[in-house]
Amino acid sequence: MVTMFGRAKINLTLDILGQRADGYHEIATVMQSLALADTVTFTRQAEGIALTVDLPGLETDERNLAWRAAALVIERCGVRGGVRIDIVKRIPVAAGLAGGSADAAAALRGMNALYGLGLTDEELCTLGAELGSDIPFSLVGGTVFATGRGELMERLADFPEIHVVLAKPPVSVSTPWAYRAYDAQPAQKHPDNPSFLAALAAGDAAACMRLAGNVLEPVTEGAHPVIADYRARMRACGADCAMMSGSGPTVFGLFATEERAARAAEEFRRETEAAVHLTRTAGRYEAAV
Ligand code: C5P
Repeated sequence: MVTMFGRAKINLTLDILGQRADGYHEIATVMQSLALADTVTFTRQAEGIALTVDLPGLETDERNLAWRAAALVIERCGVRGGVRIDIVKRIPVAAGLAGGSADAAAALRGMNALYGLGLTDEELCTLGAELGSDIPFSLVGGTVFATGRGELMERLADFPEIHVVLAKPPVSVSTPWAYRAYDAQPAQKHPDNPSFLAALAAGDAAACMRLAGNVLEPVTEGAHPVIADYRARMRACGADCAMMSGSGPTVFGLFATEERAARAAEEFRRETEAAVHLTRTAGRYEAAV
């Protein structure tokens, strides 16, 4: 039996550079992993894939990315045997936090460990990229500058450890919809990635937080004004930076002190309908639990 964490991520910057011939968008994004994680346990079984998730309503068949990741490894590596996968879900679903990708990344690593396949990180990332643009990042974690459709990665100095409040409003956002809506109305204002990267390299977290930005934020916010309300509330609670993650709808706030973050989380729980998590930034991938 093997257990892996699948960590959530936020986008500190997210810029769209254009449409691609393959239907994806060329992006440039600084991704950051969080301590908030699903726990994914793998147990050998004679054949086939069995999947359980402790949250009702989530797919437990080939529609689940973790299932597909395990199937891909079995097929490509000629694994003789199956796997039972049990997911304890903590990352909000369809939230802009890469929860599905986190589980798929855990499944790639889990299968690699369970069957002693010896796949390198690079090989795992190549397999992951076939299944989803965020999976390569979910495999490595930490602070990464990702380009292409999100699968080309440059590791960065770790963003300083900081407290993070996540507030997911009770609305659903489809990522393909957000990208299409962006094409209909591209951003006027783009985050300045080169300056962000320079600030990060200089260890200037305050500048990073000023330079953070997400071009999908106005798009998703246009359809769901609750996101703008949450950002304003997060700032009023003392966040040094309050933004939407990915294609949304989750809003994250970055806080210098745990006390302030805890108070903000408390206020969101009391006064909004958000699903709220209090967590912190996390470094690169570490081995199993
Ligand atoms: O790669 P993934 O399956 O996570 O992407 C989901 C959808 O998001 C894609 O089908 C596409 O519509 C959109 N997308 C995009 N450009 C990216 C990443 C995702 O257009 N770089």
